[in-house]
Amino acid sequence: MQKVIIDTDPGLGIREADFDDGVALLLALKSPQIDVIGITTVHGNVPVSYGTRNVLRLLHLMQRNVKVAQGAHRPIILDYPGKVKRPDREIEGIFQFIPSMEDNLISTFAPQFIVDTANKSEDKIIIVGIGPLTNIALSLIINPGIKEKIEKIIIMGGAAFYPGNVTPVAEFNIWMDPEAAEVVFSSGLPIVMVGLNVTQKVGFTKKDFSLLKNKIDPLSKLFYLSAVTWLDYLKKMQNTRECYIHDALAVGYLLDEKLISTRQAYVSIETKGALTRGQTVIDTQGISGKRPNAQVCMEIDKKRFREMVIDCLEKL
Ligand code: RIB
Ligand code: CA
Repeated sequence: MQKVIIDTDPGLGIREADFDDGVALLLALKSPQIDVIGITTVHGNVPVSYGTRNVLRLLHLMQRNVKVAQGAHRPIILDYPGKVKRPDREIEGIFQFIPSMEDNLISTFAPQFIVDTANKSEDKIIIVGIGPLTNIALSLIINPGIKEKIEKIIIMGGAAFYPGNVTPVAEFNIWMDPEAAEVVFSSGLPIVMVGLNVTQKVGFTKKDFSLLKNKIDPLSKLFYLSAVTWLDYLKKMQNTRECYIHDALAVGYLLDEKLISTRQAYVSIETKGALTRGQTVIDTQGISGKRPNAQVCMEIDKKRFREMVIDCLEKL
């Protein structure tokens, strides 16, 4: 069983916030292949305190006792450009009656929790980063020695030869803390980069979530209302009828590496560009003269991924 820490910025249950982290957590927590030894929360889709509460409520609904450690509330170096406001309004009728599992919340700061957990683990651990990389970078800064205890880091982030989703070239998780991403990608650890170029190959519509519509259990209602509210928001803001469950693909890779084909590359992070800050610059040809530092995901089995997500929702 793979010992995994998931670092996440879950907008689950919050208006105008992406709920894809919630699906990734579902996939991981329900899988017999994965031992989720900890969940750390980070700023991103929502303020970190909201993300923490969302994880604790999800664990309550799943009746799972997994340790949760809250992490960074802002990027390492530059606070959000223009003080971008993060969504913080709950979707009515979802959470009022779902208590958090406060006893799962530990007081240790998330980066320190990652260090302590890696050092205590007999086996090497895997970190799945599905939010900005602030916590993971800080853990490597606090104690670089934990690299000996980390098998690999799977990151949902970046975009390989593909447009960004926050600027024309930058993807949200990287853009929110490019300096943290630079620390992680230059750590020398095995990195798997699951970027928009693969996560946006499979779109999900309200029809895909209609299987949850008439279910009355709180977990089904949570995911149905989160999905429909997010899709309504995307329709209003981007005139699109589909969403991407980006983070679920990072866990999907963990569950079945055959889901995705990867390519070795040297990935560097633009941290200075006025127009390009947050871009993942992918060198697959060795032009930079640097040794590859990541496996970059290039193609996915779209049918298999879609089945993986729908199957998970059907079994809520
Ligand atoms: O760009 C997509 C990523 O940003 C996903 O992790 C989503 O949850 C948001 O954090
Ligand atoms: Ca996320």
